[in-house]
Amino acid sequence: MLHQENIPSTPGKSKPEKSHNYGFRSKVLTFWSFLFLLVFLFFFLISPSPYTPSRRNLKTPSSPSYGGPQWEKQVRKSARPHSLSGLTVLVTGAAGFVGSHVSVSLKKRGDGVVGLDNFNSYYETSLKWARKGLLERAGVYVIDGDINDKSLLDKIFDVVVFTHVMHLAAQAGVRYAMLNPNSYVQSNIAGFVNLLETCKSSDPQPAIVWASSSSVYGINTKVPFSEEDRTDQPASLYAATKKAGEEIAHTYNHIYGLSITGLRFFTVYGPWGRPDMAYFFFTRDILRGKTISIYESPDKGSVARDFTYIDDIVKGCLAALDTAQKSTGSGGKKRGPAQFRIFNLGNTSPVPVSRLVSLLEKILKVKAKKKVSPLPRNGDVEFTHANISLAQRELGYKPNTDLETGLKKFVKWYLSYYSDSRKNNF
Ligand SMILES: *[C@@H]1O[C@H](CO)[C@@H](O)[C@H](O)[C@H]1NC(C)=O
Repeated sequence: MLHQENIPSTPGKSKPEKSHNYGFRSKVLTFWSFLFLLVFLFFFLISPSPYTPSRRNLKTPSSPSYGGPQWEKQVRKSARPHSLSGLTVLVTGAAGFVGSHVSVSLKKRGDGVVGLDNFNSYYETSLKWARKGLLERAGVYVIDGDINDKSLLDKIFDVVVFTHVMHLAAQAGVRYAMLNPNSYVQSNIAGFVNLLETCKSSDPQPAIVWASSSSVYGINTKVPFSEEDRTDQPASLYAATKKAGEEIAHTYNHIYGLSITGLRFFTVYGPWGRPDMAYFFFTRDILRGKTISIYESPDKGSVARDFTYIDDIVKGCLAALDTAQKSTGSGGKKRGPAQFRIFNLGNTSPVPVSRLVSLLEKILKVKAKKKVSPLPRNGDVEFTHANISLAQRELGYKPNTDLETGLKKFVKWYLSYYSDSRKNNF
């Protein structure tokens, strides 16, 4: 557990001095055993259960809010595809930005979808609940629960046989990792392993598509970023946990025959987006007349991002699901090699943040108050630029929304959502 680094070396490892005095030896052993017991009890008493929600999640872990015939009926109905060839997909992080768009698109084309989301308060939960409303109107049931809750996952997999899992639940954001590092480990590593454990034991095993991140390229300077480039120099804990996820995915693929596809998203933006992202809070701050900070790299160069519009990302996600081969294991046993893939999903045109701001000024018809400052060393990288030729070849992925077009759609949504919210007193 996380506390282990504080525990003094275990008695088994620190052998007492070699001695022929057996009385002394047994006294030393008793002493160490006693100390060990004390330390063990201490940590047992103070450590929270690994599955309790983190501090920021203010929900109390009450009795499970799932189960029962009514609940099962809802879940089954949502999971039922409209055609024989339709997929049955569990979408984790379904009330998130990408998760909600993917869920609605799958449902609209006739697939069965069950959503799962823990509605944590990393950003305004009202936005997540509003997305949930959108999903419900589309016929997607979203379970309020955590991927770390093993009994919940077991229950869901008991009720529904999934052909695919679209795993989008994650602790996102690069800067927040400095405030709450454990939530990244909890979601992106522990939660992912918990989900993979459930998938591996399920019979038949689903194929898994999940969200990695362009941040795994870290301080890589070779452009454009290609899948075979090195990803062992992360610049943030977020990136490190996503990279760990890629390695963990490989392990489950190798040992248990799970078919796994990792998608490295490049700065996804659009309607229903995440308020912690620059395009989103720049829009808010510009409209409120608040000064925005524009970062420049140490060599005075502009920070640039390969902004990718949500509809393009959704097409990439659906294509990854559609081209995923079946897992080869069953009941935890591998029967043969299984598919393992990693794709960049970007837009191949990095845009300097200064251009992002001038586009927003143009669309909002408001002049921004700007302050230029050096890029703080908080995990942000200077630029990202995707090589998408692999996704193009294997998935037919072809992004076709330029930043101005996409931002216009975002701003249109933003204005209508927040004016409605105010009216509805959200
Ligand atoms: C893009 O990625 C492909 C592999 O997917 C690689 O063969 C190609 O050389 C890369 N192109 C550039 C310009 O790096």
